[in-house]
Amino acid sequence: MDKNNSSIKYISRSPEETRDIGVRLGKLLKAGDVVGLFGDLGAGKTTLAKGIAKAFGIDERDIVSASFTFITEYDTSPPFVHVDLYRIENDTELAELGLWSHIRRDSVSVIEWAEKAEAELSSENIIRVSLKYKNEDIRELIIEGVYEKDWNHR
Ligand SMILES: Nc1ncnc2c1ncn2[C@@H]1O[C@H](COP(=O)(O)OP(=O)(O)OP(=O)(O)O)[C@@H](O)[C@H]1O
Ligand SMILES: [Mg+2]
Repeated sequence: MDKNNSSIKYISRSPEETRDIGVRLGKLLKAGDVVGLFGDLGAGKTTLAKGIAKAFGIDERDIVSASFTFITEYDTSPPFVHVDLYRIENDTELAELGLWSHIRRDSVSVIEWAEKAEAELSSENIIRVSLKYKNEDIRELIIEGVYEKDWNHR
C-alpha cells in the first residue's frame, strides 16, 4: 500500500463498530502490507483483527487472542498471517520466534502487541493502529500509514 503520514482517528462505540473499521482497513490491504496493532489488554486489537481477517474471507471466530499460539497463517489469497506477541517477554524470545520468516512480501500480516517488537518494526514501513480504552464501550483508534484518499474512497 502507498503510505503517507496522515492519521485517521475514530471513536468506536461498540465491538461491532471496531470490527467494521477492521473490515474497511482489510479491504485496502495488499500483499506485503504489515499492520501493527498497539494497545493494552482489552483495547480491541483482536476485535479489529477479526474485521481485517473477515475482509479476506476468514471466519472471525478463527481469530482469537493468543494462548500459546503466536503466529497463525491462513491459506487465503494473499496469505493472511495473524501474530500475537502478548506472551513474548524479551528480545531473546522475539528472536526465537523468527517473526520475519513469517512476515513475507506475498502475505498480509497483522501483529497484535506490536509494541513488543517496536524496535524491529520502527524501521519498517508498517501501518500502525493504536487502540485506546476510553470506557467500557468506547475505544479510540488512530490509524497511521494509509492514504486518507483511499480510506475515504473505499
Ligand atoms: N468499542 C469497542 N471496540 C472493541 N472492543 C470493545 C468495544 N467496546 C467493548 N469492547 C469489548 O472489549 C473487549 C476487547 O477485547 P479484544 O480481545 O478485542 O482486546 P485485545 O486488545 O485483543 O486484548 P488482549 O490484549 O487481552 O488480547 C471485548 O470484550 C469487547 O467486547
Ligand atoms: Mg488480543
